[in-house]
Amino acid sequence: MSGTTRIAVCDPNEGSREVLKKYLLGMDNVWLEADCSRYEFFTDIVTQTTPDVGIINLDADPETALKMVESVNGSHSGCALVVISSSSDGQLILRAVRAGAREFLNWPLQIEDLIGALDRVSATGNSGKKAKSGSVIAVAGASGGVGSTSVGVNLACALAQDPDKSVVLVDLDVSLGDADVFLDTIPEYTLLDVAQNISRLDLSLLRKSLTKHETGVYLLPRPVQLEDVETITQDNFNRVLSLLKASFSHLIIDLSKSYNKLDMTAIKAASHVVLLTQLDLPCLRNVVRLMMSFENQDGVADKVKIVVNRSGLDKSQIGLKKAEETIGRQIFWQIPNNYGVVSESRNNGVPLINMAPKSNITQTIAELALAICGDSASVEGDSAKAAPEKSKKSLFSFLGKN
Ligand SMILES: Nc1ncnc2c1ncn2[C@@H]1O[C@H](COP(=O)(O)OP(=O)(O)O)[C@@H](O)[C@H]1O
Ligand SMILES: [Mg+2]
Repeated sequence: MSGTTRIAVCDPNEGSREVLKKYLLGMDNVWLEADCSRYEFFTDIVTQTTPDVGIINLDADPETALKMVESVNGSHSGCALVVISSSSDGQLILRAVRAGAREFLNWPLQIEDLIGALDRVSATGNSGKKAKSGSVIAVAGASGGVGSTSVGVNLACALAQDPDKSVVLVDLDVSLGDADVFLDTIPEYTLLDVAQNISRLDLSLLRKSLTKHETGVYLLPRPVQLEDVETITQDNFNRVLSLLKASFSHLIIDLSKSYNKLDMTAIKAASHVVLLTQLDLPCLRNVVRLMMSFENQDGVADKVKIVVNRSGLDKSQIGLKKAEETIGRQIFWQIPNNYGVVSESRNNGVPLINMAPKSNITQTIAELALAICGDSASVEGDSAKAAPEKSKKSLFSFLGKN
């Protein structure tokens, strides 16, 4: 699978080596190429397997390990080296860096630290290959009932049809979310359970606490009790996100409409924000207002893709051109109105891909999934096409003549 980082591990201590391997085996974007229990053999193993990243635990014999780091770094410049030690002695860190280590991690290992280090070394080489941790798509809406959950759930199902993708759907509408109803599931654990236990979860336990739907989508639903919602902190939610990103290729997050701290955390973590609107005045006014707020936050506005839902609903809808003039941005996609199919799918808890695979709305959502996640080249192209332009028109300009 493209974007996978191939890793070789070296640690003479079986206990810590197994812990590290367990972490790595749970990561979706990582391939464990080799594991080695002897420092003396690691250079040969790197020669044979040419991994993108070598992870070396120094603890068993720091002197021998550092010599080996220096030798691997000298002979295999394409392999980025990450070292681990239970010592945080400054001299040791300095020597490891001089020997060629790109990252220094402390033992016991925190999984987010490992994920962060792998992201950094993969993003900048040495292999020159950019591995991706999961791509996050936040699905937001310009008004209640605009169709965020319908589109979010079905976008996740469409993506999950690709065997190279692993997809998790997070219901962040913590008070009123209904993604579980759309998928007709009764999940055992919720976002609250995962957030509260995040420091104890590893990637395989995390996966086990999610509910898998027959489409392949994993679901992390909203908490059961309304009063529990407040106990999910931004910090815990961020940790949930980084673990999910390591474990899945795609995270779809169905946001609430309150743009609270958790919603904004998801928006910041997202690579794409799908902002759903309908072609009516209240929605478009909210798009303008939301975009004004996003423009004040670093990098957020550029990630937004405005998607019109229920296109063709009725004749009183505002025209696309006028809507674009008003919001000062291009509309990225339009999803047709198809109330019969969407409401039947929702009421039966059967996603569109299963209930009406050939219908226009199912096809359009599949195309939207491809446009956002198909391949990075086309996504870049699309985002350039949708680059923000400041509106010179007033909000109500579409009420005037063409
Ligand atoms: N493209 C569409 N065509 C027709 N009806 C739709 C469409 N998308 C959503 N709906 C309907 O709109 C209502 C609200 O959808 P929902 O996804 O729950 O919105 P939100 O999550 O934004 O509150 C539902 O009754 C749903 O069936
Ligand atoms: Mg919803």
